[in-house]
Amino acid sequence: MEYLFDTVNISDIRKYMDIYPITGITSNPSIIFQHGKIDFFTHFREIRDLIGLKRTMHIQVVSQDTDGILKDAETILEQIDDQVYIKIPVTEQGLKAIRILKQKKINVTGTAIYTKVQALTALESGADYVALYYNRMENMDIDPCDVISTTAKMIQSYNYATKILGASFKNIGQVIKAFESGAHAVTVLPSVLHAALSLPDIQRAVDDFRSDWSSIYGNASISD
Ligand code: E4P
Repeated sequence: MEYLFDTVNISDIRKYMDIYPITGITSNPSIIFQHGKIDFFTHFREIRDLIGLKRTMHIQVVSQDTDGILKDAETILEQIDDQVYIKIPVTEQGLKAIRILKQKKINVTGTAIYTKVQALTALESGADYVALYYNRMENMDIDPCDVISTTAKMIQSYNYATKILGASFKNIGQVIKAFESGAHAVTVLPSVLHAALSLPDIQRAVDDFRSDWSSIYGNASISD
């Protein structure tokens, strides 16, 4: 099970990576748009310095045709490092690029996946991760759990090395359902995890434990 952060916000990454067991970060042009203009390569180099090479970094291409996607990929790998996962939307042009990059042993994440056929063709093309868009599927009246579980079954039946990366989450319930349906990894905004761990009932329980302890031992703590 893997958790990644779906953000380019460096202060959030710095703050929350020490708290949550994060294995990488993902981004796309819309995430960058929401964050505000960044100095693209400098910013991702800074994120790499922060997360190190043991965590994965998934950066999306912008071009839509195969040649352009390959050029985007080459530039990202040159400017950042050769461990980056090139995030490629699973279109016909994207699939072609995925196959070419995998022949060169480049790390690839297939993205913008709403349907089973996109996921299954990306598996067969060799993608390392397939990013399945949970909330966007729900908005389209597509059952994301069905798409995830079919993809998971095919990975198991045919021994693909690909991991399912649940993406596009708006709340923790969706994240848990994605894992239950067979996702190997999820990418979430730190705020989704923060909200889930900040329930008043959790804090109330912790306060009750402290107050019961204090009624026996006063202000002393275990280490005193
Ligand atoms: C991450 O890989 C996806 O691009 C992202 O989760 C999509 O999220 P959105 O549906 O909120 O745009």
